[in-house]
Amino acid sequence: MLILGIETSCDETAAAVVADGVEIRSNIISSQQAVHAAYGGVVPELACRSHIENLQAVIEAALAQAHVTLHDIDLVAVTQGPGLVGALLVGVSLAKSLAYGLGKPLVPVHHLEGHVNAIYLEHPVVPTPYIALVVSGGHSDVYYCPVRGQYLVLGRTRDDAAGECFDKVAKMLHLGYPGGPLVDRCAQEGDPSAIHFPRAMVDKETFDFSFSGVKTAVRSHLLQMTDDAGVRWFDDDTFWPLPTSEMWLQQRNTLLASFQQAVADVLVTKTLRAARQTAARAIVVAGGVACNSALRHAMRRAGESKGVPVLFPSPILCTDNAAMIACAAAHRYQTAPAVYHEKFLTLDAQPNLALPAVHPADNICGDE
Ligand code: KG4
Ligand code: ZN
Repeated sequence: MLILGIETSCDETAAAVVADGVEIRSNIISSQQAVHAAYGGVVPELACRSHIENLQAVIEAALAQAHVTLHDIDLVAVTQGPGLVGALLVGVSLAKSLAYGLGKPLVPVHHLEGHVNAIYLEHPVVPTPYIALVVSGGHSDVYYCPVRGQYLVLGRTRDDAAGECFDKVAKMLHLGYPGGPLVDRCAQEGDPSAIHFPRAMVDKETFDFSFSGVKTAVRSHLLQMTDDAGVRWFDDDTFWPLPTSEMWLQQRNTLLASFQQAVADVLVTKTLRAARQTAARAIVVAGGVACNSALRHAMRRAGESKGVPVLFPSPILCTDNAAMIACAAAHRYQTAPAVYHEKFLTLDAQPNLALPAVHPADNICGDE
């Protein structure tokens, strides 16, 4: 079965052709980073316009790279939500038209279910139950998944998402957008244990996160930083002009390495605790922040020490893409094919779409 996946929930216009839900024939991602970089974040109206301008060409490129035409497609899959409503509408409208014109089923996909499903493109069998940590620009969620396709929310962020926190720290330092990869790169050159930034709620029972405090701590630390003559680098919190000396760059990289380690430590501690309390047989980490080198390293090491396999998609499948959407759709379709025929005429984008839940069992999380 050949699936055409379409993803336009935020700032990537993406289309992919995936065979049988596992074999990626093409995976085209057109990033809008250049459009949004000048604003230091995603501008919804510009995102929507860029999707309109690019989506058709991106789909054509995906079909061409897979050496197929639209008439070879058996099923159309599209991100229905959550995301920016204008951006989602572009993908949903085109997907509806394609499914209608081709007379094929249309499967709407939850964006976060797409992220979790990216793992099945490279690991067709994931032991269940598992804990899924989804860390992206808009979400930091811990799910208990008793089987593929069911999600019990154990925790989520109470303020900033992890990716948002990386982006805001990068913006503070005028590094560029999106900030996560840039912070990660600078952090490679710094000492992650040099500065102890707060690890919010790490000792609390809750699986919720809070990342706004560490961002403020970075700001306060920056205001105190001095050169070797004891002169502060910055007069105010515009953190401008940026120094250029080697000494500053070393201090900045150490600051970013320590910040990154603080975020990774919290994510690892809570995810491992969730795995232990639910007797999970694996941990799946997904979403853009799953590219982060400190998080990958720390989570793998912690998983090894506790005997829990930790699975990360390849970086290209962690950030927004349409192959993960096609993969998730394949599974949904296989479990209930009849549902997805003729449904597309009433399908609408849903910016606050909820994940398919499980009923909380009485004692999924036993005492430690
Ligand atoms: O999943 P994604 O592509 O889009 C959303 O659904 O939000 O995630 C994007 C987020 C951005 O905040 C970006 O800065 C972050 O993922 N990100 C990273 C890294 N690569 C991407 N954060 C930390 N380290 C990275 N290497
Ligand atoms: Zn995403």
